Amino acid sequence: MQTVSAPLKKVLITKDEIAKRAKELGEEISKDYEGKLPLIVCILRGSVLFYSDIVRNIKTPCNLDFMCMASYGAKTHSSGKVRTLLDLREAIEGRHIVLVEDIVDTGLTIKHILDMFRTRKPASVEVCTLLDKPSNRTTDITPKYVGFTVQNEFVVGYGLDYNELYRNLPFIGVFNEDETK
Ligand code: IMP
Repeated sequence: MQTVSAPLKKVLITKDEIAKRAKELGEEISKDYEGKLPLIVCILRGSVLFYSDIVRNIKTPCNLDFMCMASYGAKTHSSGKVRTLLDLREAIEGRHIVLVEDIVDTGLTIKHILDMFRTRKPASVEVCTLLDKPSNRTTDITPKYVGFTVQNEFVVGYGLDYNELYRNLPFIGVFNEDETK
């Protein structure tokens, strides 16, 4: 039995479903990047739990690095304005990069990061996202690796927050904003 300690409408994706999918994605990435020494980049803070599960399931040699992005504005939708709080330690010119994100919603955040990365001339950049919300997209972003496709609902848990809360839930739930009013 999972203990729900957040205002949720329902549990959307269980801990076991997440673990199974992270294993599958790790195996897929291992196969695609064999012999390429990819740099696996964690986009903090939302993707931290997913990232740690993904890299544990990558069986080919890889390097790890971290970035922290912050977006300005509203709590439950993207403002599209992003700034870099922490940049990579590694130079990425000529490297194969896999960006690990928590969720691609409008796509504005990941587009900003991809545009920034491309100026540094990597050999390739692909996106691995825990969640994809394609119904809300305003950009032409198509992540190569997708954990789960979700409806246009605000979700929390397993790294995802509402007002910096609920990131530590081991599962993903649909947030009930009415309970916070
Ligand atoms: P985008 O720029 O619209 O693609 O949104 C990306 C960022 O908005 C994510 O990295 C999250 O931080 C946040 N976000 C979007 N949808 C959700 C959600 O349902 N729950 C929690 N955070 C979200």
